[in-house]
Amino acid sequence: MRVFVTGGSGLLGHRIVEELSRRGHEVIATYNRTSPRLGVDGVKWVRIDISDAVAIEDALLKARPDAVIHAAAYTDVDGCEVEKDRAWRVNVVATRSIVRACRVVKSYLIYISTDYVFDGSKGMYSESDIPSPINYYGLTKLVAEEIVKSSDLLYTIVRPSAIYGVGPGKANFATFVADRLMRGEEVPAVSDQYVSPTLNSALARAVAEIVEMRPMGVLHVAGNRMSRYEFAVALARALGANEGLIRRVSMESMRWKARRPRDSSLDTSRARELLSEKLVFDTESSIQLFVEEYRRWRGLCP
Ligand SMILES: NC(=O)c1ccc[n+]([C@@H]2O[C@H](COP(=O)([O-])OP(=O)(O)OC[C@H]3O[C@@H](n4cnc5c(N)ncnc54)[C@H](OP(=O)(O)O)[C@@H]3O)[C@@H](O)[C@H]2O)c1
Repeated sequence: MRVFVTGGSGLLGHRIVEELSRRGHEVIATYNRTSPRLGVDGVKWVRIDISDAVAIEDALLKARPDAVIHAAAYTDVDGCEVEKDRAWRVNVVATRSIVRACRVVKSYLIYISTDYVFDGSKGMYSESDIPSPINYYGLTKLVAEEIVKSSDLLYTIVRPSAIYGVGPGKANFATFVADRLMRGEEVPAVSDQYVSPTLNSALARAVAEIVEMRPMGVLHVAGNRMSRYEFAVALARALGANEGLIRRVSMESMRWKARRPRDSSLDTSRARELLSEKLVFDTESSIQLFVEEYRRWRGLCP
């Protein structure tokens, strides 16, 4: 299958590119500011600013992919609150361009959305719960979801939560925690905010299965519910590091520009039933795999 991946240089996107290539798919992947790591077999890289409607539509019309995985986004939650115009162009306007081109070439679309479409008052959200974002990032992702839903495309909207892992892209909590623990430094970790931490490589395998089986509608694909503090402690144990270095802090003490949902954990029952790929739902096993990937990445083991 020919698959077009936006955001191939990101924390999740690079793993999707690797996984699709490993499965023998022809991959065309985009990057913008981060030069991609070359050397993945069968991948054609194109540099595009997806907020340039002509450029992204043209690339899709030329590529005529069977499927598009739209993983690119302006993901800095505080940045989106300040640079609202950029957030709207990258997260909303670009999604509209991609949907328009997918309709022309009759391509199936996977849109990577987020748990931040929810307000966090309830937790363990299922696909039938009504989104109600409390920050601008979440709002732009929800509007993009609505653009996808109201098109006549065959689509799947995948909602992960708190993506972590090694590689390029967004700085993430797990590598921050592991780096500090390895240096013997204290790690502040919020104990009153709950998420469903999702390993990038495990999520990429699930996304590859989704592109091959095409389940329609919205799917929550994420790990188990836990606080950032609990996640940090689990990481310390898996790394064999001193968990006493982890210090509880409250959401209130964080100097965030954007509000964060208190509990945006996801109920993944629907995806668990549909997918044969199970690692992504199991945070304990995912953390074990993360530790192996982290040690290799940091050159701590062969
Ligand atoms: N990280 C999380 O905790 C999390 C949680 C839930 C959902 N998600 C969603 O998962 C998806 C992937 O997130 P991620 O963590 O992998 O993000 P990331 O590491 O920040 O990567 C974002 C990707 O989008 C690309 N991008 C940003 N602006 C662009 C533009 N104007 N034109 C072209 N490409 C652009 C970046 O390219 P360059 O770097 O080359 O510029 C990069 O490849 C996003 O849709 C995000 O909303 C993330």
